[in-house]
Amino acid sequence: MISTTETAVTLEVNGTSRELRLDNRRTLLDALREQLELTGTKKGCDHGQCGACTVLLDGRRVNSCLVLAVTADGSTVTTVEGLAADGTLHPVQQAFLDHDAFQCGFCTPGQLCSAVGLLAEAEAAGEALDEPTVRERMSGNICRCGAYPHIVRAVVEVAS
Ligand code: FES
Ligand code: FES
Repeated sequence: MISTTETAVTLEVNGTSRELRLDNRRTLLDALREQLELTGTKKGCDHGQCGACTVLLDGRRVNSCLVLAVTADGSTVTTVEGLAADGTLHPVQQAFLDHDAFQCGFCTPGQLCSAVGLLAEAEAAGEALDEPTVRERMSGNICRCGAYPHIVRAVVEVAS
């Protein structure tokens, strides 16, 4: 029996339906990392300030540390583990490699998910993306190692 502090939810995570029993206070970030063992998504600040925990929720980028997992019931979630398809890197992942767009790599999963979300937003709006626009729209993702110029170049390359 499920207690009043827990809820059963179903999430489609990286294309697979997952049934979870969740503490109502558990964040989506902790559910992904600790219950589903998808540790690609990183916990940086845990306060919505660094973007390390960015995932795609129903296609939109969110800071998963700020989302209560129970509110995502019935949603689709894409984490960095779900970006590559059939062993082939997502174009954004390949561009990050090509442009040496990471150093320690801690922020990289969030940067990748954010970039994929950003590109989808721009495509849906029919917008072209230049470097200043990418910088602005990726500004919620903090990299402490100085890989920014490479990250921006990688995203602009995929956008063009
Ligand atoms: S860990 Fe979520 S924004 Fe920093
Ligand atoms: S590569 Fe180190 S924080 Fe981004």
